[in-house]
Amino acid sequence: MPGLNTLRQTFAKVFGYGDRGEELRVFFAPGRVNLIGEHTDFTGGYVLPAALTYGTWAVVHPRKDRTFRLASTSFAGKVEIDADKVVYQKADGWANYPKGVFSEFNCLGSRLSGCDILYDGNIPKGAGLSSSASLEMVTATALNHVESLDYSLIELTKLAQRAENQFVGVNCGIMDQFASGMGQAGNAVLLKCDTLDYRYVPLALGDYQLVITNSNKQRSLTDSKYNQRRQECEEGVHIIQKHLSGVVSLGNVSLDQWQEVQKYVTSPEVYKRLDHVIHENDRTLASTIALEAGNIQDFGQYMIQSHESLRDLFEVTGPELDTLFEEARQVEGCLGTRMTGAGFGGCTVSLVHTEAVNDFETQVTVGYRGKTGLTPTFYHCDSGDGARELKGFAK
Ligand code: GLA
Repeated sequence: MPGLNTLRQTFAKVFGYGDRGEELRVFFAPGRVNLIGEHTDFTGGYVLPAALTYGTWAVVHPRKDRTFRLASTSFAGKVEIDADKVVYQKADGWANYPKGVFSEFNCLGSRLSGCDILYDGNIPKGAGLSSSASLEMVTATALNHVESLDYSLIELTKLAQRAENQFVGVNCGIMDQFASGMGQAGNAVLLKCDTLDYRYVPLALGDYQLVITNSNKQRSLTDSKYNQRRQECEEGVHIIQKHLSGVVSLGNVSLDQWQEVQKYVTSPEVYKRLDHVIHENDRTLASTIALEAGNIQDFGQYMIQSHESLRDLFEVTGPELDTLFEEARQVEGCLGTRMTGAGFGGCTVSLVHTEAVNDFETQVTVGYRGKTGLTPTFYHCDSGDGARELKGFAK
């Protein structure tokens, strides 16, 4: 966590006030790691993410002139926005995410007064740990408080997703924003993505812990095959809906029903995508049951099956993530490992015995470097709480 007084000083340096007792408020929204249930959210299926303690901070001071001025400790310059004219501009880069949130508040009819906001964060960009969702959620949470808007946290997660879909142009599902908003320390969240029914699942891993490995192969959802995969799934749903009455989303198709209707899906690509999604939903529910029963071994097996399915059927892994997966599996004390997030680069998450973590890091580094020339980075991930105001920010 950054020193709050340092943030206050940076705010003052950027905006020219804030170090003389003005009331600045600080908000935080975490990134997330998805434990299982990958590429299932946009078809109404199950996901099991946990919020991290890594995330994005926003230091905020209200304005009255309907102007937003945005700055970040990671990028030079300031972006200024008129609350009545919020439009996407490529040149604004990262600031398009907060702008998407302003735009969605505008669509809901909220009359925004404006703010100065300094952002700071510690989620590695392009690693698949939801830096964009945390940026959206910290903005939505900050505005909700500072502008006294009174939306529920769940409403804010939906608003942040719409910001990314409609303003930024990435057709993501609800998982990242939901985990960032609703996460709870010590727990993962089992979420059904069409109804938003959810429950917390304690991360009681005994002698095991989660280790995130960054492949350091960057990817961006805006230029990945993400939207294409989503279209393939939609095409598949349309086909099977003709043969299964009442099925609205893939999240509601059982394995038995899939057996019955798979013959109608003639495109091999679409078949593979659906086969992944429907089995992944099943694995996510089975993983939840295993975790709740303290059956860590089974959970580890589901993680491995999930990666194999994302590699062979959904085809979103790539050589770097597959190498990390293979290397991790060979380490004694690693019960399970899989890519996490959108894929095509980014991170894996592994379930490793606490006494084997050092060996895990050494062996995976040596193996991965030898095969790809890249050096991985490891994060020992503590689960954290969702988006909130940080009180007690000293004046
Ligand atoms: C990205 C998206 C999520 C989800 C995952 C894949 O993180 O933002 O909505 O689709 O990919 O599970």
